[in-house]
Amino acid sequence: MAKNTVTITDNRNGNSLELPIQQGTAGPPVVDIRGLYPELGLFTLDPGYKSTAACTSRITFIDGEKGILLYRGYPIEQLAEQSNFTETAYLLLKGELPTQEELDGFNGLIRKHSMVHEQLLHLYQGFRRDAHPMAIMVGVVGALSAFYHDELNIHDQQDRERFAVRLLGKVATIAAASYKHALGQPFVYPDNSLDYAGNLLKMLFGVPAEKYEVNPILSKALDKILILHADHEQNASTSTVRLAGSTGANPFAAISAGIGALWGPLHGGANEAVLAMLAEIGDVKQVPKFIKRAKSPDDPFRLMGFGHRVYRNHDPRARVLREEAKKVLEALGRLEDPRFKLALELERIALEDEYFIEKKLYPNVDFYSGIIESAMGIPTNMFTVMFALSRCVGWIAQWKEMMVDPDLVIGRPRQLYEGAGPRDYLSIEQR
Ligand code: CMC
Repeated sequence: MAKNTVTITDNRNGNSLELPIQQGTAGPPVVDIRGLYPELGLFTLDPGYKSTAACTSRITFIDGEKGILLYRGYPIEQLAEQSNFTETAYLLLKGELPTQEELDGFNGLIRKHSMVHEQLLHLYQGFRRDAHPMAIMVGVVGALSAFYHDELNIHDQQDRERFAVRLLGKVATIAAASYKHALGQPFVYPDNSLDYAGNLLKMLFGVPAEKYEVNPILSKALDKILILHADHEQNASTSTVRLAGSTGANPFAAISAGIGALWGPLHGGANEAVLAMLAEIGDVKQVPKFIKRAKSPDDPFRLMGFGHRVYRNHDPRARVLREEAKKVLEALGRLEDPRFKLALELERIALEDEYFIEKKLYPNVDFYSGIIESAMGIPTNMFTVMFALSRCVGWIAQWKEMMVDPDLVIGRPRQLYEGAGPRDYLSIEQR
């Protein structure tokens, strides 16, 4: 029996099969079960994919036990401190950090694609003013597939590269426009003299009547937020993009599917839910009551911004953002912000509580991002949009990787069927 194998025996009939174990550069070894169905006629059942690696990847690595996150091998803390968003995007998309010349070229391409077709802007008029900006994002990013379809050959490497910079260039403009639409203010066109975060701030908060000065502390903090959210291996939205993309669908449509998946409060929507929760708790004195509710098996309430499927330790992104939140609030003279104080108290009490310790529930990235964004003046319903626009980088990188994967086939899970067996149709009179 080979050493790097797992032997599986079907005790009903004694049939057995040796399955190879593959070891990546890091992370738990993986049993390659591809022979299971052809050889033994068995499927595996793993709701929520808690034990399933759906693909091989070289982009992002998470060690959930140790609280480590690496993009292409580089620790997230170093990137957040020393890199910037477009350089990190280059790293994720291409695998290596760029030279100055490569970075200049990449930034130039993103800028070249920062404007959107005027007809696309007309789409916004079809949305009610109170439409959730994530709903607008799903629609407008999906609509890019109508503008770039016939000439986009997903099997052509240059076309895939063009798609990448086109989406990165446009998504910030689309995101800012979804905010301006709600305000009833004119859309602010991109300013290619600014960096990515500065331009985004200008498109969000600028108005044609006044000159907009980018606050360097805010643009640095926003840039950090973008870096921290750029990729996170095979999470729900990334897996959605991969699944939709595996059918050969237009990649803008696949990304739109990912935006839909990100919206949920258990995923990217948690940042919005954190602020709603802090507002509901209202006062530091109420914290024990809500902690009690979060622990009760009979109460659906959960501490939003706490817990993670993969991290059983501190989410390293939350650590960076906790410090950044302090810096931003201090710079804005709002260190006494009651929501920040409430968040710190909630974190303190939860981290000392037996329930949270035992279940290894720590603050995740969403716990602090909303506090910073809110201090910047970004409204709560735009938080997940900010997440989506930065995660576009990861989705594109993962889609590009998938498209050249020799193992690429259409994603098609199977099921354990527990429904009715075959039966004859009854006419309506006989039922
Ligand atoms: N508050 C209270 N209890 C919790 C929480 C929480 N935030 N999270 C998990 N638990 C409990 C849960 O009730 C369960 O208890 P039991 O074993 O007694 O049934 C146990 O911990 C395991 O939870 P789970 O739901 O089985 O774990 P999961 O890995 O399926 O879920 C999660 C991970 C992130 C969906 C979950 O922790 C959660 O709902 N957190 C709140 C939402 C949130 O902050 N989401 C953002 C995630 S990070 C950013 C992103 O992914 O976009």
